[in-house]
Amino acid sequence: MTPVFKKIAIASDHAGFPLKKALIKTLESLNIAVFDLGTFTEESSDYPDYAQQVVTSLLNEEVQAGVLICGTGIGMSIAANRHSGIRAAVCNEGTTSARLARAHNDANILCLGERLIGPEAARDTLLTFIATAFEEDERHRRRLSKIA
Ligand code: RB5
Repeated sequence: MTPVFKKIAIASDHAGFPLKKALIKTLESLNIAVFDLGTFTEESSDYPDYAQQVVTSLLNEEVQAGVLICGTGIGMSIAANRHSGIRAAVCNEGTTSARLARAHNDANILCLGERLIGPEAARDTLLTFIATAFEEDERHRRRLSKIA
C-alpha cells in the first residue's frame, strides 16, 4: 500500500489515548512522519484543545492530514470542522466510510471514537483513509467549493 500522505498529525483526549498510541505505531511502520500533538497521559483533558493542535498543524501545512481520537470521534469532528479548509470525517462504522470520505469529500482529518471502535477496525479504517486518493471529479470539486 502506498500512502497518499507522508506527514500526519495525530492527537487525542484521554478517552482516545490508548488507541492513539497504537495508531502511531501503525503509521510509523509505513514510514509516515507522525506529529504526536498530545495528549500524553490518561488524565482527563478537553478534546477541543487537541483538535485545535491538529487543525493548526494542517492549516500551517506542516502535515497533509490529521487523525483525531476521542471517546466517540464526534466532539473532535465538531471542533475541527469549525475551521475553514478542514474536512473532518467520523468513520467508526467501517472502511467504506473512510474510503468515501477521501474519494468523494477529500476529508483531511479522520476522527475515530475509541469507545465505539475496536483497535483492529480502527487500524483498518486508518489504513483505508491514508491509502485512498481524492477522486478528481468535477462534481466532487464543485460540491467542495460550495462548502468552502
Ligand atoms: C470524554 O469523556 C468524551 O466526552 C470525549 O472523549 C468525546 O467522546 C466527546 O465527543
